[in-house]
Amino acid sequence: MLATWLGLAVFPILSVCQELSNANISTIKDRLADGAKQSWELGTRAEVLIELNATQFSVFSQSNKLPPPHTLPSGSNNSDLQAVFSIARSVVQGANITSPTGSTPLFVEGSAADPASVGNAVLLANWTNQSGAQFGAAAQNELNYLLFKAPKTSDGAISHRSDQVQLWSDFIYMVPPFLAYYGVLSGNQSLITESYNQIKLYRNYLRDPNASLWRHITMGSNADNGFWSTGNGWAAAGMLRVLATIQNSDFASSFGNELSDLKDWVKEIHTGMYGNLDKSNIFTNYATDPTSFHDASSTALLAATVYRYSLFVDDHTYVPQAENSRKALSASNSSGLVHFTSDGWLTPVVNPENMGTQGTQSPEGQAFVLSMQAAWNDWVADGSKGSGALRLLTNARWSCVCIILGLLLAM
Ligand SMILES: *[C@@H]1O[C@H](CO)[C@@H](O)[C@H](O)[C@H]1NC(C)=O
Ligand SMILES: *[C@@H]1O[C@H](CO)[C@@H](O)[C@H](O)[C@H]1NC(C)=O
Ligand SMILES: *[C@@H]1O[C@H](CO)[C@@H](O)[C@H](O)[C@H]1NC(C)=O
Ligand SMILES: *[C@@H]1O[C@H](CO)[C@@H](O)[C@H](O)[C@H]1NC(C)=O
Ligand SMILES: *[C@@H]1O[C@H](CO)[C@@H](O)[C@H](O)[C@H]1NC(C)=O
Ligand SMILES: *[C@@H]1O[C@H](CO)[C@@H](O)[C@H](O)[C@H]1NC(C)=O
Ligand SMILES: *[C@@H]1O[C@H](CO)[C@@H](O)[C@H](O)[C@H]1NC(C)=O
Ligand SMILES: *[C@@H]1O[C@H](CO)[C@@H](O)[C@H](O)[C@H]1NC(C)=O
Repeated sequence: MLATWLGLAVFPILSVCQELSNANISTIKDRLADGAKQSWELGTRAEVLIELNATQFSVFSQSNKLPPPHTLPSGSNNSDLQAVFSIARSVVQGANITSPTGSTPLFVEGSAADPASVGNAVLLANWTNQSGAQFGAAAQNELNYLLFKAPKTSDGAISHRSDQVQLWSDFIYMVPPFLAYYGVLSGNQSLITESYNQIKLYRNYLRDPNASLWRHITMGSNADNGFWSTGNGWAAAGMLRVLATIQNSDFASSFGNELSDLKDWVKEIHTGMYGNLDKSNIFTNYATDPTSFHDASSTALLAATVYRYSLFVDDHTYVPQAENSRKALSASNSSGLVHFTSDGWLTPVVNPENMGTQGTQSPEGQAFVLSMQAAWNDWVADGSKGSGALRLLTNARWSCVCIILGLLLAM
């Protein structure tokens, strides 16, 4: 009888404690390392490793201004930061840069934009004087490619594809964060302005004000008018990286209006997306189409952007929804994690190379979970603002232990 009562009392509390263990994070990170092969996957992996475990080099750090330190912390050999440099090194070695003033992108491929996602890691490798590749020359070539060689619309939006002009929402994560970071590290204000301008142009082309969401692809032979959830996640996450890059730099005071726009534009996507979240707390692959399959990948990325928004804008409107999504993605039952395979792949996920179909292993999905975890860690450290629950209950596993002990003592 006592055991039954105890079970009834503890059960709901245990479910509040739901979170990914350190071992889970490590496994998810390993699967990301196994799976990341494509340009944007490598770039996204580098970015999330910094967010998760090299936070003093992250544009989201709230205690370190940009530019970052020139030297690595002494006495530590951060394996995650080494992995970031190793990505940058192998990509630059493969890029075959012949002239520092050329315009060879980091990858010569169908996408004009995705290679730039690795650009931030390349810039950081150059900034911290890593050896083994011509990082500075490669970053300069990538910039020249984007500014002077990639196809553009008549009003200057850089194409997402290299053979014809196509505008994809994904672009916002790939290119503007590189332009802004380049601008801050080289003290070149016009590059920061260009970063903002690209976002503004893309928003003009892709946003649907009625849905308060971005369409996926416009122009060219591959149009996708649907509100692809991952695409809205890429757009919100890319805008937040630009927002954080500017706000954490000495240029913040010169970009007041731009920062204000970026805040509005991220919120607009949150409004559109979270208005479509069903009881599962997982988005469908196309946000406004309840018949499309559920997609844990975009759900993790959007949750990450909500925690970052809460930290940078002090607006916590969608935190309760993001918390519901995070808890759903972290849930386990007696056979293990509900949203991961036994070897640590997130599920269910959209096929990252075919946006209309469900996939099995999504490297970007793995990265989005780590980004969510990194943002959540920072949000918890900042006091879990806007969670709408007792702070004690939302503050990590120690409070769970205390509550359970308290209950046991009360018996
Ligand atoms: C998640 O972590 C729990 C607790 O450490 C462990 O039992 C479980 O096997 C892990 N699952 C995966 C997929 O890593
Ligand atoms: C994070 O980096 C530190 C070194 O700075 C390393 O000891 C630690 O294992 C890393 N953490 C994870 C979760 O990989
Ligand atoms: C740091 O770690 C990397 C692999 O994570 C290793 O290759 C390198 O030799 C280590 N460097 C030092 C100085 O320990
Ligand atoms: C950068 O590294 C090279 C050797 O790889 C060294 O000669 C040079 O002094 C370093 N520069 C700085 C600023 O640390
Ligand atoms: C790379 O670093 C060097 C200094 O080590 C600097 O002069 C150069 O401007 C940097 N290149 C880029 C593209 O940031
Ligand atoms: C800023 O970067 C652009 C593009 O590389 C370049 O044309 C311009 O001269 C730079 N401005 C300054 C002040 O260095
Ligand atoms: C938005 O809704 C209004 C009223 O229903 C309609 O006239 C307009 O065409 C819609 N706009 C878009 C971009 O779908
Ligand atoms: C645990 O959750 C998974 C995924 O929803 C499900 O397939 C499995 O049947 C559940 N196991 C138990 C014991 O409830």
